[in-house]
Amino acid sequence: MKPSAFIFDAYGTLFDVHSVVQRAGAGIAGELPALSHVWRRKQLECTWLRALMERYEDFRYVTEAALRAAVRELSIEATGQQLDLLMQAYFSPAAFEDVRPALEALNGSPLAILSNGTPEMLESAVRHNGLESYFSATISVDQVKTYKPSPRVYALGPRTLNLPAEEILFVSSNLWDAAGAKAFGFRVCWCNRSGADLEDLGFAPDIVVRGLDEIEETLKLPR
Ligand code: 2OP
Repeated sequence: MKPSAFIFDAYGTLFDVHSVVQRAGAGIAGELPALSHVWRRKQLECTWLRALMERYEDFRYVTEAALRAAVRELSIEATGQQLDLLMQAYFSPAAFEDVRPALEALNGSPLAILSNGTPEMLESAVRHNGLESYFSATISVDQVKTYKPSPRVYALGPRTLNLPAEEILFVSSNLWDAAGAKAFGFRVCWCNRSGADLEDLGFAPDIVVRGLDEIEETLKLPR
């Protein structure tokens, strides 16, 4: 059965987090791809730890703290101004190339975003990429003051769209996020752009695609 609605993860799925350092990291002496990867890893670790400890600070705070920690870990000399530029650029990450064709193809159904990002970060990223018209809702974890993969976060989806979880396809490129969404009760699409192995997180995605623009066609295949 075709899903009644689609909910997308934001960072890593719609928006390329590594575009931030690529665009705004010029001038920083150091291994920029490593900085981008360590920044992302520390950002996610921080969300998981804060969720477990019930010590929520919003995603802007966490992202900035993770940037400072990444710079320290890699012994990168960056000025305050250079770090500010990276943080500003986090508000305008590039969308992956497959995003717009995917949203066009699914456009008859309600489409939403459910993300760790603050409302301001998400609105800014959507606006920067000219995607406002596609989404009926942009849902931030800030409403429940915790992070994915808490079920309290995923519960915001059905509540906002007024649909049961099993009628919604949750789409994420982050395997741990896809696992969390499946554990909650969504149908799940894992967008595996890099061809990574499926780790054993106790779940299997309902569909796997190599790009978001494959979702519509994949749903038509017999399963
Ligand atoms: C998001 O919630 C997991 O960073 C990812 O947008």
